[in-house]
Amino acid sequence: MYRLPVTSLWPGHLIPLLRNRKWPFIIYKEFAMTASAALFDHAEEAASYLRQRLAAAGLPTPRLGMVLGSGLGGFAAQVANALAIPYSEIPNFPQSTVEGHSGRLVLGTIGQVPVAVMQGRVHAYEGYAPQQVTFPMRVLGRLGIRAAIVTNAAGGIRTSLKQGEMVLLADHINFTGSNPLTGPNDNRLGARFFDMTSAYALAFRKLAQAEATRQGFALTEGVYLCVPGPSYETPAEIRAFRALGADLVGMSTVHEVIVARHMGIDVLGLSLVTNMAAGVLEQAIHHEEVMETGKQAEKQFTSLLTALVPQIVSQIASQITSQTGSNEHGASHR
Ligand code: HPA
Repeated sequence: MYRLPVTSLWPGHLIPLLRNRKWPFIIYKEFAMTASAALFDHAEEAASYLRQRLAAAGLPTPRLGMVLGSGLGGFAAQVANALAIPYSEIPNFPQSTVEGHSGRLVLGTIGQVPVAVMQGRVHAYEGYAPQQVTFPMRVLGRLGIRAAIVTNAAGGIRTSLKQGEMVLLADHINFTGSNPLTGPNDNRLGARFFDMTSAYALAFRKLAQAEATRQGFALTEGVYLCVPGPSYETPAEIRAFRALGADLVGMSTVHEVIVARHMGIDVLGLSLVTNMAAGVLEQAIHHEEVMETGKQAEKQFTSLLTALVPQIVSQIASQITSQTGSNEHGASHR
């Protein structure tokens, strides 16, 4: 299992006290630097294990990564020539403990495109640090993906949304109080400071809108707000989030997207409204309802994503060609 970076073992409230004296600060800095180098090494170790498994199965390197959220794991059945690897077999990978998250990385192809599909993810509420939650995205980045599709189950805050509706993410609000990039930066992974203006690539959003229209349904866009969970929200919290500009609420995705952008990966985000958020309707929220809605919406979700994967990958390829004048890919910081 991926070991907790040493920095996250330090009780946060002690750090300012320790910083008043020089020697503990030096030790803290040493530990922190070691932890960030370890993250790179651990991700590289997992990526090289996957490279071996891919080679042994005669599969090409994935061009696109996908994360399937609660109740959406069935999409992995779309992967042809599938090689499914349980997370427990991948060095340093965190294990998911939630019902409905199988915890397998499915390698193979969708419409001839080599993909890596995460069937299940880990969440901060399981006790994982943000660096652990985002570790799989680091590994996919090290494998060389340039595009990621992240999906989740979410509560609908905007009252015009309907249970079972898919919403394209236009932006997010990180309401977790944490960031996976806290601590020293490893330049081999990405820059210290980086832009989040286009966290969800406009070009991908346009492709998704056009594809939804082609398939005969309207795809609204929304802002996703991430809470730590695991408790669902109170009605007062939902009113506050609505005032902040959120349309959807959930317990995942934003940390992954931050790490993806850090590595120069372009992102498409999709939420499935599994329930209306607390207080929107006069009824309680149940996890079973969240899972059930996911299964019901699977058909539309599957047809949209299956069509989008090749389009997204050719979009990335043409972007790279226009930037470099060649077909080669690879971000400058990798
Ligand atoms: N709140 C938070 N996370 C969720 C919800 C919700 O209402 N529905 C699905 N994931």
